[in-house]
Amino acid sequence: MGNYPTGVTVVTTVDENNQPIGLTVNSFASVSIDPLLILWSIDKRVGTYELFAKTEKFAVNVLAGDQSDVCSLFATKGTDRFSNCEWKLSENKLPIISGAAGVLECKTFKTVEAGDHMILIGEVIDIQSANSDPLLYHRRKFGKIPGQFYL
Ligand SMILES: Cc1cc2nc3c(=O)[nH]c(=O)nc-3n(C[C@H](O)[C@H](O)[C@H](O)COP(=O)(O)O)c2cc1C
Repeated sequence: MGNYPTGVTVVTTVDENNQPIGLTVNSFASVSIDPLLILWSIDKRVGTYELFAKTEKFAVNVLAGDQSDVCSLFATKGTDRFSNCEWKLSENKLPIISGAAGVLECKTFKTVEAGDHMILIGEVIDIQSANSDPLLYHRRKFGKIPGQFYL
């Protein structure tokens, strides 16, 4: 799968004490237009797996081209992720990463057990777009959209 290029997101929610939690995710994909559904999958070994498996809402923060440090931060074990980046709570009480290229706030539509991962399908309830270029990820390296991409 490392040969397949993707964008990078940080998926966030809050725990039972309203503390923010989140992790770097590139399994994000579009599912349905009507209703507007997206999916991502979480490894059952992730420390916050139990919380995400039962959460009723989550936010998908699509990282911008200059946010490779945020990608690494939210993939590194044992770091205080939210003390080391700028973020705020949305009206839906979901953690939003500052400077993200876009944000999809979702309510959990369905969860599907799939091997050592759980697939979370979300129904999009709010969208924000900064119109900035996204961060790209391929073979463990980061990239940006090259200028000629749109020609
Ligand atoms: C580019 C990239 C994409 C990732 N995508 C996923 C993913 O889709 N699902 C997942 O469970 N983990 C993914 N990870 C790994 C998690 O971010 C990582 O295991 C998690 O942050 C560990 O959290 P923990 O310290 O709470 O266990 C990805 C990591 C990177 C660097």
